[in-house]
Amino acid sequence: MSELIGWLGPAWLMVKAAHVIIVIFWIAGLFMLPRYLAYQAETEPGAAEDLHWRQRTRRIRRIILDPAMLLAWLLGLALAFNHGFAGAYWLHAKLLLVLLLSIYQLWIVSVAGRMQCGIRPLSSRALRIANEVPGIATIAIVILAVVRPF
Ligand code: HEM
Repeated sequence: MSELIGWLGPAWLMVKAAHVIIVIFWIAGLFMLPRYLAYQAETEPGAAEDLHWRQRTRRIRRIILDPAMLLAWLLGLALAFNHGFAGAYWLHAKLLLVLLLSIYQLWIVSVAGRMQCGIRPLSSRALRIANEVPGIATIAIVILAVVRPF
């Protein structure tokens, strides 16, 4: 339990619990947004249903995705400096995957932004395929964080 003597001291486990809770919200938002965009892509640009989906996707981004990604990084980096990076290859691999997941979020949010203007950059089918990415990433990230295979 060397983490207990890190800079977080006795707060370590509470910070880790907060990290896992926030990460659950983040991934939930990453599951919802591409799915909502897949439904929006099936509507006529400017139609009432399209305007409803624009409002819903704006809310997911503002209320869930942006704050959860920021907090997941803040709590995660606090844990990483508490744990130490030296020799923690599982953490290096995890940080790479989480960075790619963050870039995925920036990309899907940019797609949502264009769909807010009535553009349809991707088909509903392509968005459903894109919806699989957060799930696959989550499986790999959680195995790295819990099993620490290297
Ligand atoms: C955003 C950047 C992230 C950073 C910097 C980060 C960093 C860390 C660190 C250093 C730990 C180990 C804490 C310790 O035991 O002292 C940890 C634990 C954990 N992380 Fe993250 N993490 C991030 C994102 C994520 C994401 C996206 C997921 C899931 C999809 C995740 C899932 C977990 C889980 C489940 C644990 C607990 C593992 C255990 O103790 O058994 N983390 N994280």
